[in-house]
Amino acid sequence: MQYIIKGGNKLEGEIMASGSKNASLPIIAACILGGKTTTLYNVPNINDTKITLEILEILGCKVVRKNGKIIIDSSNMKKTEIPNELMHKLRSSIILAGALIGRFKKAVFSYPGGCDIGARPIDLHIKTLQKLGINIDEDAGYIICKCDKVVGADLQLDFPSVGATENIMLAAVLAEGETTISNAAMEPEIIDLQNFLNRMGAKVAGAGTNLIKIQGVKNLKNVSYNIMPDRIEVGTLLCMTMITGGHSKILGVNNEDITSITSKLEEAGAKIVTGKNQIEIIAPKKIKSVEIKTYPYPGFPTDMQSVFGAMLTVAKGTSIIVENIFENRFKYLNELKKLGAKVSQEGKVAIIKGTKKLHGVEMNVTDLRGGAAICTAALAANGESKINNIEYILRGYENLDKKLRALNAQIELVR
Ligand code: EPU
Repeated sequence: MQYIIKGGNKLEGEIMASGSKNASLPIIAACILGGKTTTLYNVPNINDTKITLEILEILGCKVVRKNGKIIIDSSNMKKTEIPNELMHKLRSSIILAGALIGRFKKAVFSYPGGCDIGARPIDLHIKTLQKLGINIDEDAGYIICKCDKVVGADLQLDFPSVGATENIMLAAVLAEGETTISNAAMEPEIIDLQNFLNRMGAKVAGAGTNLIKIQGVKNLKNVSYNIMPDRIEVGTLLCMTMITGGHSKILGVNNEDITSITSKLEEAGAKIVTGKNQIEIIAPKKIKSVEIKTYPYPGFPTDMQSVFGAMLTVAKGTSIIVENIFENRFKYLNELKKLGAKVSQEGKVAIIKGTKKLHGVEMNVTDLRGGAAICTAALAANGESKINNIEYILRGYENLDKKLRALNAQIELVR
């Protein structure tokens, strides 16, 4: 599939943010835990959530999608082996391991796939799950996790991994005794997972700080839950408005979750006006160059690095971006060069020299956020761009083409 974008239109108008991809995925996994019925609202209709729900159905859950809500009944679920083919399609399928172990004391899976943005090992997941009393063996490419019971323990993460923090939380909710996670990831999506688990009757505290405590409980209950807004989608739409010199408003936003993004946009010259659950951006006449270094939350998010990189191709002066989280997240730079961007890379540093003009060309997407970056630059380029392999973008952005058209962009999805 392809997007065709005719650049040059200023993004203007008002749009509603979608639910968060990275909050939905662990929360969908958590629906396995209680063996009950869960109703989820605001799950984005994107390929990553579709694949996760498909895995749940294969494992024996009943999944009903109705009027924007998703009802997941995991009472008759019995299977604990995640199909190899689906595991490969999605990095976050690893999160299902924690939930399966939590409920069934067993999980079988292969190494996860996902966007090729770096080596993405799972050693932190394995090491910490073992400390909860789970035996983990590898056989013919499969990882087999088994135990009689999960026993709470004090865990220390070598790095505040988002996925490992979530996996431990899921495995520990029904464990015997208390689990603590030191050096836990502090991302807002972890708070959303804690809120969801506690709504189900779990006893989790500390999410949003680097010390999370999980007191094991015996049972969980039926609940409904509204997923938080997608802060990366919001940031993407803000950068897209910025590069086109536009003025847009996004509704349904948690402003406190995006301060590292908005403060960088202000440094680049944007006027930002925040209100209750909404944000307005007015682009400057000329974007200013900035320096960006990605870090775990509350640092600048790696998921926004590429979109900022694209936005800065037309800035005044030279911008420097340091990518500290994933070693392979600069592939989009080669595509931006085709548009006339003056970019180069030395290891984990990208150097972006602002240019006055980008011109539309054909480009290829190689990962989700790199794809969003390519679209960002194409929106500002003179003439038409053809963007191939947009399946990567559809993994994580809900109705991006529709939203951009609503904001006055010329973009078409070609199947
Ligand atoms: N890491 C290890 N060993 C592990 C786990 C992680 O070395 O066992 C390393 C990774 O290789 C990476 C760093 O730790 O260098 C951070 O990885 P983390 O585990 O925090 O990332 P993740 O859980 O795989 C989530 C998001 C990513 C986002 C990162 C960082 C989901 C489903 N994915 O991934 O989102 O970039 O946290 O914030 O929540 C995206 O949405 O495009 C995306 C890639």
